Amino acid sequence: MILCANFKANKTRQETRAYMAVVESFVSANDITDTVIVFPPFTALEHDPRNVLIGVQNGYPVINGAYTGEIALEQLEEFGIKTILIGHSERRHILGESQEEIAAKFRFFAEQGFVIVYCVGEPLEVREEGNEALMTYIEKQFEGIDLSYGDLILAYEPVWAIGTGLTPSNEDIVWVHNALRAKTHAPLLYGGSVKVENAGEIMALDNVDGILVGSASLSANDFCEMIAQAAELNTEIGE
Ligand code: PGA
Repeated sequence: MILCANFKANKTRQETRAYMAVVESFVSANDITDTVIVFPPFTALEHDPRNVLIGVQNGYPVINGAYTGEIALEQLEEFGIKTILIGHSERRHILGESQEEIAAKFRFFAEQGFVIVYCVGEPLEVREEGNEALMTYIEKQFEGIDLSYGDLILAYEPVWAIGTGLTPSNEDIVWVHNALRAKTHAPLLYGGSVKVENAGEIMALDNVDGILVGSASLSANDFCEMIAQAAELNTEIGE
């Protein structure tokens, strides 16, 4: 399983440090073999992540240069960052990133060998039109994206489920993940209102290889509990 914590614009550097101490010691004390990735804000990046991967929530697709307010490859490399979130719905809808810009980021960071957690997902009105409309919408989010990229992790995050407490039914998640599986061999994450109460059930679904968690990941204890649920599933599969 792959478990991602997306802090968004939450937590200070000091809070992130305390959080990482809890999660890192949980991962080592429990011999966790699942992949755990935390996406803190830029200001909380540290040099020495140990058994937990640190990724960034964004990056500008250049080595360096005159791009006021942006963080580029050179600054990320200084912190050993090799993992990036691209295409998150908040960047698409709140920050106004176009598919063209998103595809340019994808191309650049893929060329640099980054692990890319690429997010797709439909707004509510599209979901209400049914599965065919939903996949047509998601297809557009694949424009310019290399779905055969070896270090791709694909996250399905319905826009209407992010931060709302709403989630699709398990059947709906499986339907979309099966459709995505037909397009790529990349691990498939589900994201959108995942919390301790539903994480285990969602991770156990067919073609769900992990979760991308926002609000509920802000509690280190809750996130550790979800990591424990993933480990539990591995045991069940191994039995
Ligand atoms: P949420 O956010 O868990 O708060 O719904 C998920 C995400 O935006 O990645």
